[in-house]
Amino acid sequence: MINKDQLLVALKPLHDPQYDKSIVELNFVRDVMFKEDHVSLSLIVTSEDEAFKEKAKTFMEQALEKLGVSQLHIRFRLITDYERGQIASTEQPNKAVPQESPAPQKQAILGNSSSVKFIAIASGKGGVGKSTVTVNLAVALARQGKKVGIVDADIYGFSIPDMMGIEEQPKLVDNVIFPVEKFGVKVISMGFFVQDNAPVVWRGPMLGKMLRNFFHEVDWGDVEYILLDLPPGTGDVALDVHQMIPQSKEVIVTTPHATAAFVAARAGAMAIQTDHEILGIVENMSYYENKDGTKDYIFGKGGGAKLAEDLHSDLLAQIPLGAPDNHISEIDYSPSVYKKDSVAGQIYLDVAANIITRLAN
Ligand SMILES: Nc1ncnc2c1ncn2[C@@H]1O[C@H](COP(=O)(O)OP(=O)(O)O)[C@@H](O)[C@H]1O
Ligand SMILES: [Mg+2]
Repeated sequence: MINKDQLLVALKPLHDPQYDKSIVELNFVRDVMFKEDHVSLSLIVTSEDEAFKEKAKTFMEQALEKLGVSQLHIRFRLITDYERGQIASTEQPNKAVPQESPAPQKQAILGNSSSVKFIAIASGKGGVGKSTVTVNLAVALARQGKKVGIVDADIYGFSIPDMMGIEEQPKLVDNVIFPVEKFGVKVISMGFFVQDNAPVVWRGPMLGKMLRNFFHEVDWGDVEYILLDLPPGTGDVALDVHQMIPQSKEVIVTTPHATAAFVAARAGAMAIQTDHEILGIVENMSYYENKDGTKDYIFGKGGGAKLAEDLHSDLLAQIPLGAPDNHISEIDYSPSVYKKDSVAGQIYLDVAANIITRLAN
């Protein structure tokens, strides 16, 4: 079987169109894994140009086939602003690289001139799947080509990094924090700033400050949507976020049980009080689909529809019970991200498309 050096030599002739330089010299070939005569790898790309991806795929398949590789799995990942900055610091690109990229300017994402669309994900209580919805909605938006960030504002109960299988830490350059990126989504979480999973014991003012830092000290780069995973309920932090980002829209998550919807209505009432437009309701854990296609409504029925009616809003989706079919052995393992072509993955794509349309008007 070939080794990594041989693989890199074989791939060296392929040039990135924007830098007009070998993908190997640019260090764009990552996460190379061998299993018998199968190879998987990630290729960093400088644009979502499908024609180049197709060309790269064909080139790599042919080059590696000569070395006895029977199957090649390529995962394309868009270059991050941070990585562009790193390349810019070592060399000059030959071709038109967007001017703002090499030395990222922090965008004032909270200001009046900001075009970032904020969507807060709220729920009446914990455990209903608020973070799961945040992560999958963000990934679904990214899968439709949007530039997306997540602020894990659940300061005490942060869970986004683990749910997405993030093992990296944010980069700190000249006192600016660069979010970690996974599945095309930029993520900032309290979890990155806590040692060894120690609980967060700070009180009010410090927490508010932390949250503010997530906006002011973080270079979000070019981002169109920021999803906020709010803490459950209607406590101080949730209120803080409402006041800090008055323009935010909301998605409210509930389970199908009538009492869950009743509790979630309080989160909805708070959104209304703080003038946050409610984009709609996501009912999670709605039913279990049996092998024969019949559905069991394990946690009751109708909660989402009832809540939508009470809040004069829409039921955006009913998401079935079932964990993602992911395995630790996969590159890019994540416990909570549904695959694109799974039932839940498709539902999240629909919700994302719906939200894109609504927010475009
Ligand atoms: N549709 C679903 N089917 C099965 N398990 C789910 C579903 N949605 C969420 N879960 C699981 O339920 C638990 C709570 O979800 P989470 O997103 O952490 O809720 P919250 O953020 O509201 O506390 C997690 O273990 C999560 O993996
Ligand atoms: Mg959560």
